[in-house]
Amino acid sequence: MTDTLTIAIDGPAASGKGTIARQIASYFELRHLDTGSLYRGVAAMVRDQGIFPTDGDAVARIADSLTIDVLERDDLRDAGIGNLASIVAAHPQVRESLMQWQRNFAMGGAVLDGRDIGTVVLPDANAKLFVTAEIDVRAARRWRELSAQEDIAYRTVLDSIEERDRRDAERSTAPMVHAEDTDLLDTTEMSIEQAVAEALRLVNKQIKAA
Ligand code: DC
Repeated sequence: MTDTLTIAIDGPAASGKGTIARQIASYFELRHLDTGSLYRGVAAMVRDQGIFPTDGDAVARIADSLTIDVLERDDLRDAGIGNLASIVAAHPQVRESLMQWQRNFAMGGAVLDGRDIGTVVLPDANAKLFVTAEIDVRAARRWRELSAQEDIAYRTVLDSIEERDRRDAERSTAPMVHAEDTDLLDTTEMSIEQAVAEALRLVNKQIKAA
């Protein structure tokens, strides 16, 4: 059963989905892919090569050339890269280019987290969650992470998350959405341990119901 288990965890920035996805993967002994890192990798290469992020075809060529080692770059979590990732992710050609990559990774079982995993990448996943939290709680979490590495104001982080939420939810291809067939997990008032426990309960419930 575990061999072919695929689990989709979607949600906005700093909702806790990454930590939840990692822990669920470890619980079920599955591989985990943070798909945001793929878009962040494309964004980092776009920045390195001085490509206009609005040039969809040029950005898609970068996406076509993406290799797994890009995930090792240590600048992927920089504040500016998150925003640039959200801009390049809006191009349909870029999403198409990264689609097969993600599906190949999921073959044989995996946990993927992102924005469109349960809706587009793995619509037949065995379990699907949409993890969210109130915007100020998410901004405070992300600010704590970022301010350990760079000097950044809380307001800058809040504005950037708001902008990203809007762009990710309003784009025409594969927008971030809480789909009807997906359990909602609001982590606003939860510790990470509580959120992981609740996520596991929901995933196990969905697997049993299938
Ligand atoms: O999860 P993250 O914050 O690292 O993602 C960075 C950006 O990448 C996000 O703002 C939108 C984009 N993204 C996407 O469009 N689809 C995904 N499955 C994952 C991320």
